[in-house]
Amino acid sequence: MNKDNHPNQERHQLNKLNRRKFFTTIGNGASGLVLLGSLGVTLEYLTPNVLLEIPKVFKVGPIDNIQLDSVIYNPEHRVFVMREKEGYFYAISSVCTHLGCNTNWNPAGDANYPEGIITCPCHGSKFTKKGEVIDGPAPRPLDKFKLYIEDNKLVVNTDEIVDEDEMYLKV
Ligand code: FES
Repeated sequence: MNKDNHPNQERHQLNKLNRRKFFTTIGNGASGLVLLGSLGVTLEYLTPNVLLEIPKVFKVGPIDNIQLDSVIYNPEHRVFVMREKEGYFYAISSVCTHLGCNTNWNPAGDANYPEGIITCPCHGSKFTKKGEVIDGPAPRPLDKFKLYIEDNKLVVNTDEIVDEDEMYLKV
């Protein structure tokens, strides 16, 4: 009788071991997942949460390479740098003074402004090449920025808004 029970006992022991191994594996897996999750949270905490600010000052040029009667658009700073056929420069913002949409330079202009106009795609404001309002709803002209020359390059300072009498840089 005892001899007959022996294989059953062995099988029972074997099942017990397999079950233990199974639960141990599940437990280790769950612990691993928890560890991975907390590692992710820690890494996220340690990563600096910084917004990289675009510098307010940028350069264009060398000035000798900028053609007369041309417009250079800087999309990063949202600025039009204009050079008139007489050779002088000015820089104006492409940000519409209505609700801040980005305006577009239209070199063909229209019947009244054949030298080109700046238009806003959002609500239809129009500006002259020098940023003055032709049609609203824009309540005021486009901002004009301080310009100077450094190392034969044009430097635009978007932190310094100037009046019309200070906007032109003659070379
Ligand atoms: S944002 Fe330019 S017209 Fe409204």
